[in-house]
Amino acid sequence: MNKLLVANWKMNPTTAREAIKLAKASNHKNVVICPPFPFLNAVKKNITAASLGAQDVFWESPPAGGGAYTGEVSPAMLKNAGARYVIIGHSERRRYVGETDGMINKKVLATLFAGLKVILCVGEPKAVRKNGLAAAKAFVKKQLLADTRGAHGKLIVAYEPVWAIGSGTPDDPKDTAEMARFIRNLLKSSKIDVVVIYGGSVTSKNIGRIMSYGEIGGALVGGASLHSHEFKTMIQIVSHKK
Ligand code: PGA
Repeated sequence: MNKLLVANWKMNPTTAREAIKLAKASNHKNVVICPPFPFLNAVKKNITAASLGAQDVFWESPPAGGGAYTGEVSPAMLKNAGARYVIIGHSERRRYVGETDGMINKKVLATLFAGLKVILCVGEPKAVRKNGLAAAKAFVKKQLLADTRGAHGKLIVAYEPVWAIGSGTPDDPKDTAEMARFIRNLLKSSKIDVVVIYGGSVTSKNIGRIMSYGEIGGALVGGASLHSHEFKTMIQIVSHKK
């Protein structure tokens, strides 16, 4: 299977012009570009090979399509805008917006129901990882079981240890591979078909090593996806791995 590269632009860039430039440079069949909402349309129009993703979604999905939810965006709107993927439960949303596992679970269900692919983010904070990989597994298990309650079908789980995001220090790929196996086994008994990808300080320097593990199905890239030269190098490395 091809490895998936998810470009999570977070709250960047500031203009549609920059977004288009970056999208064109990131246009590859193994890539999912997740721009901020205002640029979904512009990015969609300028990619031919990459897929479009969103960074968040709302859980209410009224049959009529819309509803009185100020500021929110529904799965149906994202689908109509050409998105195929949605990132849900990123640690920055858990932290800054106070998203709970209950909210994330509702988002996962609404998004799957709409026929979009979910990229569900889970991962432990530093205080937990200090106690070892077993403690991290217990933390991730709790998040995953709560976030996927009642879900079935295909799911992409992004294992993103919170301490590795934007820190310049990625997880040890050996540990990531073990966590990926753990996550797959955990969801085996449910009706979920899972691909595990990794996120947290992935760059062109370390992506080759991380992707050399068969258990790791791709990467969720934040900071490095904003630099077109760097991201192109990463695409090249990943497209040679199967
Ligand atoms: P990073 O972010 O690549 O900048 O560490 C990853 C993420 O938060 O998804």
